[in-house]
Amino acid sequence: MIEITLVVNGDRRSLRVEARRLLADVLREEFDLAGVHIGCAQGSCGCCTVHVDGVPRLSCLTFAVQCDGKSVRTVEDIGGPAAEHALQQAFRRAHALQCGYCTPGFIMTLAPFVEAMATENRLPDENEIRDAMSGNICRCTGYQGIVEAVRQAIAERIGTGAPA
Ligand code: FES
Ligand code: FES
Repeated sequence: MIEITLVVNGDRRSLRVEARRLLADVLREEFDLAGVHIGCAQGSCGCCTVHVDGVPRLSCLTFAVQCDGKSVRTVEDIGGPAAEHALQQAFRRAHALQCGYCTPGFIMTLAPFVEAMATENRLPDENEIRDAMSGNICRCTGYQGIVEAVRQAIAERIGTGAPA
């Protein structure tokens, strides 16, 4: 067992974990963050995406000990309790979620993309959006709605500068 310290959604906590323990399991089981979904558990679907020091990472391919001292952010911390991030609101408007199992992963992958495009003040074309989400699988094949949600969110962020 190894003692590590994680800062998860702003809360710093030390815990003892086995070296082989996955970040996804630690977030779900030790931090009760059920929004971290595990789909394939082999790096193919993107459902388990979280941010580690601000960068999207697959938590099913990341050992918790690799994140010692790092900041981890999950979907529970995006947009506050009311899920007010422009991308979350656009998902709702564009009917971009069906069963919703893949949704946290898409949000965690695409929220930084939305912010990057907003910073560049640029609305990407559909191919760019599809490329940005190519690491995530929606088993309901609801991709068109997700593309539209990303487009709407970027347009809104460019227009209003809404908070992340
Ligand atoms: S559960 Fe991690 S990529 Fe599928
Ligand atoms: S909404 Fe069901 S897997 Fe994507």
